[in-house]
Amino acid sequence: MNYQWYPGHMTKARRMMQEDIKLIDLVIELVDARVPLSSRNPDIDELGKGKARLVLLNKADLADRSATDKWESYFRDRGCFTAVVDARSRTGMRAVSSAIDDACREKKERDRRRGIINRPVRAMIAGIPNVGKSTFINTFAGKACAKTGNRPGVTKGKQWIRLNREVEMLDTPGILWPKFEDQMVGLKLAVTGAIRDEILQPEELALWLITYLLTQYPGVIAGRYQIDEETLTAQASGQSPDRAAETADVLARIAKVRGCVKKGGEPDGQKAAQLLIEDFRSGRLGAITLEMPVLEKQI
Ligand code: G4P
Repeated sequence: MNYQWYPGHMTKARRMMQEDIKLIDLVIELVDARVPLSSRNPDIDELGKGKARLVLLNKADLADRSATDKWESYFRDRGCFTAVVDARSRTGMRAVSSAIDDACREKKERDRRRGIINRPVRAMIAGIPNVGKSTFINTFAGKACAKTGNRPGVTKGKQWIRLNREVEMLDTPGILWPKFEDQMVGLKLAVTGAIRDEILQPEELALWLITYLLTQYPGVIAGRYQIDEETLTAQASGQSPDRAAETADVLARIAKVRGCVKKGGEPDGQKAAQLLIEDFRSGRLGAITLEMPVLEKQI
């Protein structure tokens, strides 16, 4: 699985993106609504310069709606059109269609002024691995739309999917790579399941997630694992002298409640960590966003 993080693959993917992007007018970038910044590569801003831009906040079923609203404002403030999507259950597809129309309007108007009519706007889906590109292409464009086939004189072997009378989309998505320079990016992507990072242990991820939930979503852990709310509140407020030990204690308590015990009766932290992470990824902990926008900061 980790083959995808090798630099060779990244270089090849980037080269392909650079080639494909020349053919298109509109970049449709998918991000994970739970980690909208960590799941994008800011290089797209350079690659997509001069193109219309649409950001789709996917996996919105798993994200906190009020945070997703703030993220929409964040991307709109930066000149992108946006839509909120759950590609798996096909929610938000109408919003995507109208956002595509909005994003293409300027281009169509420009064509019209130059006397070019009936030239479809060409779009491309881009995003990091596992963000939902294939699911989105299938649900949004897949079965309903006919493939337009190779276009003579354009690029041999490229398949275009006609979305409507005015828009067609490249059927192979552009693959972007997360920016790992900030270690928090890797950690959050590992928690969401976007990467299987062998360097980070499940316990490490779980301890970070516990700390985050106690401060940002109080009541979630207590509710799901029937752990006494009062002690957790003390931990969340940072009154505890040894925060790390307290967080580890919460994990041990989750282990106990869920029957994750080793042979000698000791709590199995690793198993409890996996269980907690799986509960998060599947949405059983509720709709949770792992990062909030800093609204005044420019990309
Ligand atoms: P990619 O092409 O960008 O690499 O991503 P892909 O479509 O393969 O999606 C990666 C995983 O994310 C898949 O789950 C897919 O079902 C899930 N997914 C995509 N969009 C959404 C969404 O809006 N909401 C939720 N909750 N999940 C989404 P998987 O576990 O790898 O496969 P499967 O269990 O669905 O078969």
